[in-house]
Amino acid sequence: MKLLVTGGAGFIGSNFIRYILNKYPDYQIINLDKLTYAGNLENLKDFEYHPNYKFVRGDILNSELLEHIAADCDIIVHFAAESHVDRSVLGADDFIRTNVLGTQVLLETARKLGNKRFHHISTDEVFGSLPLEDSDKAFIEETPYEPRSPYSASKAASDHLVRAYFHTYGLPITISNCSNNYGQYMFPEKMIPLFITNLLQGEKVPLYGDGKNVRDWIHVDDHCSAVDAVIHRGKIGETYVVGARCEKSNIELTKMILSCMGFGDEMIEYVKDRPGHDRRYAIKPYKIQAELGWRPQIDFDSGIRSMIDWYMNNQEWWRRIKSGDYKDYYDLWYKKR
Ligand code: NAD
Ligand code: TYD
Repeated sequence: MKLLVTGGAGFIGSNFIRYILNKYPDYQIINLDKLTYAGNLENLKDFEYHPNYKFVRGDILNSELLEHIAADCDIIVHFAAESHVDRSVLGADDFIRTNVLGTQVLLETARKLGNKRFHHISTDEVFGSLPLEDSDKAFIEETPYEPRSPYSASKAASDHLVRAYFHTYGLPITISNCSNNYGQYMFPEKMIPLFITNLLQGEKVPLYGDGKNVRDWIHVDDHCSAVDAVIHRGKIGETYVVGARCEKSNIELTKMILSCMGFGDEMIEYVKDRPGHDRRYAIKPYKIQAELGWRPQIDFDSGIRSMIDWYMNNQEWWRRIKSGDYKDYYDLWYKKR
């Protein structure tokens, strides 16, 4: 099988490529990535010379390039996106460009090339915000869309386009909407790696608002195995919500990271809340469990510990990121807001 993976130099895409090439050594992968601030070839350094792996630097909006590299692929697995909510608050242009227009260009290419199989990676954030009070409530495949940030609105638009191509042109698509990922190679602008790396630098961790917002966490390797299940056994035209049923409030998670790393609550700095901050996300992944037999394998305690170890052992990787352009964004978002 030959896969065209978009956004494979980012956090989840690079973990997915490693997962697939380890599990299916005879599969071939083309990784198409623009290498934005979030794309990093270091993430796949160990696969640079793998005979079945090829990297192509390019934009998903470049239809000519897409037609050329996707022509002999069996499936397009689409991870490429602008992925950080806070950046979408600062400016939504790139989010609309890549997440909405880019997805449409890819879909159109898949259609022109004789209706290629297409899997779209999406997020549970398209469903909006759940109340804290009703802890039984969680997102399922039928939950109506109610995105509330420019990021989630752009992902919702892309999901709708993917479904439209299925209904209108019969494009053989599947969609997965996953909850918050964590794990190795996660860009240190997102909460967990930001907090771990700040602590390793002796800096405080900036907790938004009252710290009571809840996220439903899944290890990136479990997300990869879910995508593996959907691309091989998923039903065409269907959506699968993916999560590991691991809800944590931000304050609970922060205290867990602090304690694992030997720090106390004095390292927490309560900062101004994110505008429109969704209160709670939660997923009931019953359909993917029942229909595809998928189960998450990594419990949160050991997953977080091994993630902390990874950041301790790979300081060059994240220190290079944190001392580059990222500093400008950090100052703009945390200091000048
Ligand atoms: P990321 O920001 O780490 O990586 C995105 C990658 O896409 C980068 O390598 C970047 O260079 C590339 N890219 C961006 N614009 C591009 C363009 N126009 N053309 C080609 N490449 C481009 O993101 P991530 O966290 O790995 O997320 C991957 C996907 O998973 C996204 O679609 C995101 O919406 C989705 N998702 C993420 C999470 C999460 O917790 N991070 C959860 C659920 C779903
Ligand atoms: P994030 O990692 O940005 O993921 P998302 O917004 O897509 O869920 O944030 C996870 C949670 O952590 C979210 O409730 C916002 C919060 N957060 C902080 O409290 N401080 C921070 O510096 C960041 C980046 C996030």
